[in-house]
Amino acid sequence: MSKKLFIETLGCAMNSRDSEHMIAQLSEKEGYEITDDMPSADLILINTCSVREKPVAKLFSELGVFNKKKKTSAKIGVCGCTASHLGEEIIKRAPYVSFVLGARNVSKITEIIHKEKAVEVDINYDESEFAFDDFRTSPYKAFINISIGCDKACTYCIVPKTRGDEISIPDELIIREAKRAVDNGAKEVFLLGQNVNNYGRRFSGNHEKVNFSKLLRRLSKIDKLQRIRFTSPHPFHMDDEFISEFAKNPKICKSMHMPLQSGSSKVLKDMKRGYSKEWFLERIAKLRSECPKVSISTDIIVAFPGESDEDFEDTIDVMKKVRFDQIFSFKYSSRPETEAEHFTNTVDEDVASYRLTTLQNLHTDILDEKNATHLGKVYRVYFEDLNKDHFVSGRSDNNLVVKVKGSDELLGEFRDVKITQIGRTILTGELVG
Ligand code: SAH
Ligand code: SF4
Ligand code: F3S
Repeated sequence: MSKKLFIETLGCAMNSRDSEHMIAQLSEKEGYEITDDMPSADLILINTCSVREKPVAKLFSELGVFNKKKKTSAKIGVCGCTASHLGEEIIKRAPYVSFVLGARNVSKITEIIHKEKAVEVDINYDESEFAFDDFRTSPYKAFINISIGCDKACTYCIVPKTRGDEISIPDELIIREAKRAVDNGAKEVFLLGQNVNNYGRRFSGNHEKVNFSKLLRRLSKIDKLQRIRFTSPHPFHMDDEFISEFAKNPKICKSMHMPLQSGSSKVLKDMKRGYSKEWFLERIAKLRSECPKVSISTDIIVAFPGESDEDFEDTIDVMKKVRFDQIFSFKYSSRPETEAEHFTNTVDEDVASYRLTTLQNLHTDILDEKNATHLGKVYRVYFEDLNKDHFVSGRSDNNLVVKVKGSDELLGEFRDVKITQIGRTILTGELVG
């Protein structure tokens, strides 16, 4: 009987891709099969996230539960960003953990499972040219890493300490991986990196200097590939060449993530984001002038240390001006090994909660107004998920989630859908072509 692997993945899409990489290595080289049933697993992995404090606290209570319910012989490994930043402290706090594997050391998974109490968390380790075996959670959409690490030093952010310096993956490896995915049936690729539009900043070998726009042009030459998405671009690197490639290249989905973080130029400076409110608004105007149908999503942090009522008003002002299609909003969470950890001008918890609610309520109003405009419109949808009650869902080019009545025959297909019913997170429609 094959050995069973249970894996829980927290955090961002990069962690999801790292989990796919670990699954591929473990199944190819060690004969593991995935299971959803933790108590029957021989190997239990938690791929962790450190970006905010809460998930880290949750990790230890979850590890306790896993330890109680697992098979006696089963091993538990902690991987990912919290593994990188806590290292051996994890084994000190939870001695039943067998190994700790950092976010930058994923390729070592097949070695570390054989070492008791091993800790591999070197954030300078270079995996940019490691040939991972293939495993994809979805056959329809392929997540592909285009860089590892992050060279920025946003004062609130722990990621550079968990994933190390930024190194781009050579474009020939990315293109080869995309071709393989397309040959296996994926019609969409989703490119991943902390700063995708800074692609080409540094390669570990001697590679041709390919920037992100050029990479997009090269990828779009893959015949059967129909859609390209990516996350996250950085507003600082939104240059004219990139905006123009985004607008003109028909294979690039017209949905852009523009992480604002704050609308106040003062707070942005304290965050070391490298742009101002005015720059952000000007880039949005440029993007919309070249690509009027673009949908725009963002990330916002409220109550960063020193954020005054006026600073928060600037964030509200940008929200009202840009009218984002989707926001991911968070209360600032102090993280170890960051510059802002030492900032003393913290914002009271009740003020932080009030600001988060105000922001989210404003966005709900904006979303309701925007959603109403979709009624009766027709969008080309790429179907990817089978839902309950005989619905199938997918996304439009500009990232609207749309469901229709249907069966798995629609999966992996593009169809025109007329919107008949509006919901906040999902629109319902009927096939018209
Ligand atoms: N590289 C991406 C961000 C990755 S982290 C970028 O620069 O946009 C994802 C999001 O988590 C960030 O955009 C930010 O909004 C949020 N985040 C990061 N650190 C945080 C912290 N200390 N407190 C609250 N939110 C944080
Ligand atoms: Fe963190 Fe900033 Fe890097 Fe994004 S760009 S991962 S927010 S340091
Ligand atoms: Fe979390 Fe690491 Fe991603 S901290 S958000 S899993 S880069």
